[in-house]
Amino acid sequence: MQKMLIEGGHLLNGKVRISGAKNSAVALLPAAILADSDVAIEGLPEISDVYTLGDLLEEIGGKVAWDGQTVHINPENMVSMPLPNGKVKKLRASYYFMGAMLGKFNKAVIGLPGGCYLGPRPIDQHIKGFEALGAEVTNEQGAIYLRAKELRGARIYLDVVSVGATINIMLAAVKAKGKTIIENAAKEPEIIDVATLLTNMGAKIKGVGTDVIRIEGVETLHGCRHTIIPDRIEAGTYTIAAAAQGKEVIIDNVISQHLESLLAKLREMGVSIEESDEQLLIRPKNPLKSVDLKTLVYPGFPTDLQQPFTSLLTKAVNTGVITDTIYSARLKHIDELRRMNAIIKVEGGSAIISGPVQLQGARVKATDLRAGASLIIAGLMANGITEITGLEHIDRGYEKVTEKLLNLGANVWREEMTEKEIVQFQNS
Ligand code: EPU
Repeated sequence: MQKMLIEGGHLLNGKVRISGAKNSAVALLPAAILADSDVAIEGLPEISDVYTLGDLLEEIGGKVAWDGQTVHINPENMVSMPLPNGKVKKLRASYYFMGAMLGKFNKAVIGLPGGCYLGPRPIDQHIKGFEALGAEVTNEQGAIYLRAKELRGARIYLDVVSVGATINIMLAAVKAKGKTIIENAAKEPEIIDVATLLTNMGAKIKGVGTDVIRIEGVETLHGCRHTIIPDRIEAGTYTIAAAAQGKEVIIDNVISQHLESLLAKLREMGVSIEESDEQLLIRPKNPLKSVDLKTLVYPGFPTDLQQPFTSLLTKAVNTGVITDTIYSARLKHIDELRRMNAIIKVEGGSAIISGPVQLQGARVKATDLRAGASLIIAGLMANGITEITGLEHIDRGYEKVTEKLLNLGANVWREEMTEKEIVQFQNS
C-alpha cells in the first residue's frame, strides 16, 4: 500500500496531456458485449477501473487483448455468467453489465455495484427502464437478477436525470424489438460517446445529447473500431490545479466545450484562459476572487469537479459557497481540507469556504476519487509536505497522476506505507 507525498509551493508550468474519459471507458467496455465480433477501443486510460472491467469481460468468456492504450474485445464466446460479487463491488460502473448482458442474452445476474460513497446512489431508474423493456428484475441476497423472454421497445420517462440509467437503458434497448424512447435523458458527453460506439456497431440511435433519445432495435450488432473522447473531468482537475498553483499551463487533448461551466467560473475568479484547437492555456492572476456555484446536470457545473474546486476557493479572497445538487453528501473532503488549515463551514448541505488561507501540509485521507483530487490540489498549494493515503481511489480514475504532476514541475512522489501506517489507515 502506498501514500503520496507532495511538497507544496512549486509552481506548475508546461503541458499536460489528458487521457481518455474514465466515465466513457467504463461504459464502452461493457457495451462491447453486445457485438458479435471484435470491438477495438482506442485511447483507454490506464486506470484500475478499466482493468477491473477488462477482467470482468474475461470472466464471462470474452477475449481481451491490450495493445498499448487500445483494447480488442472479442465477444464471440461470451456467456451470461453470473457476476454476483468480487470485482463487481470494486466500482460503480459494473452496473453497465446489467444493460449489456440483458440486451445480449436476455438475462444477467450482477452483484450490487460499489464505487465511491457519495451518499445514497440508488439504481431504481435503471431498473424501471429494464422493466419497461420487459425484464423481470429481482434483488436476491444483494445480487440483481434480470430475466426477459424477449425485450420490447418502450417509452421510458426518467424521474431523475441519470447518466447511468440513460446509458444502461440504451445498452438494453439497442437490440430490443421495436422502438424505445428515453425521455428526460441525461446529455453528458460520455453518453454521446457510448451512442457513437453503438452506432458504429450498427445500432440505430437518434437524439443523443438532447433529453429525448430514440432507439430503433436491430437484430445484430457487429464489431468496429472506436476512439474514446478526452476526459473532461481529468482536464477540469488539471485546469483547477493550474488556476490554484500554476504559472502557465497548457491542457492538451481537451474538448473545451465540455468544460464551459468550469471555464466560466474560473474566468469570473480572474483566471486567464485561452482556448485553441484541443488545448487550453491557463494563466492565473492573483489575487483570485471567490465565486458561488451549484452543481447541475450537464451542461451545468459537474459534481465531479466540485471537490477539486473547493480547494481552489481556499485561496480566493472572500467567501465562496458550493452547493452540490446531484450528491448533497459529497462533502467528505472538507474534514481533510480543514486539517490543512482550510476554513470551511457546512450549512444546509452547502460548503462555505472563507479565504484566502495559506494551507499547511498535513496527513490526509482520500475517501473517494474526487476527494483525492481535491487533496492533491490542496497539497500543491500548501506549505510543507502533505501525505495522502487512500490512493486506491485516485488510481481508479486518474492515469499516471504522479508522473503528470512531476512533468508540470510539482514535487510529488509515492512511498510504501509502513505496517503501522497501514493499521492506522485501516482504523481511521
Ligand atoms: N439517481 C437516482 N436513481 C437512479 C440513478 C440515479 O435517484 O436510478 C440519482 C443519484 O442518486 C444522483 C443523480 O440521480 O443524485 C445522478 O446520478 P447519475 O445516475 O447521473 O450518476 P451515475 O451514473 O451513478 C455518473 C458518474 C459519476 C458522476 C455522476 C453525475 C460514472 C461511472 N459515474 O454516476 O462519476 O458523479 O454520473 O454526473 O459515469 C466520478 O467520476 O467521480 C463519479 C462519481
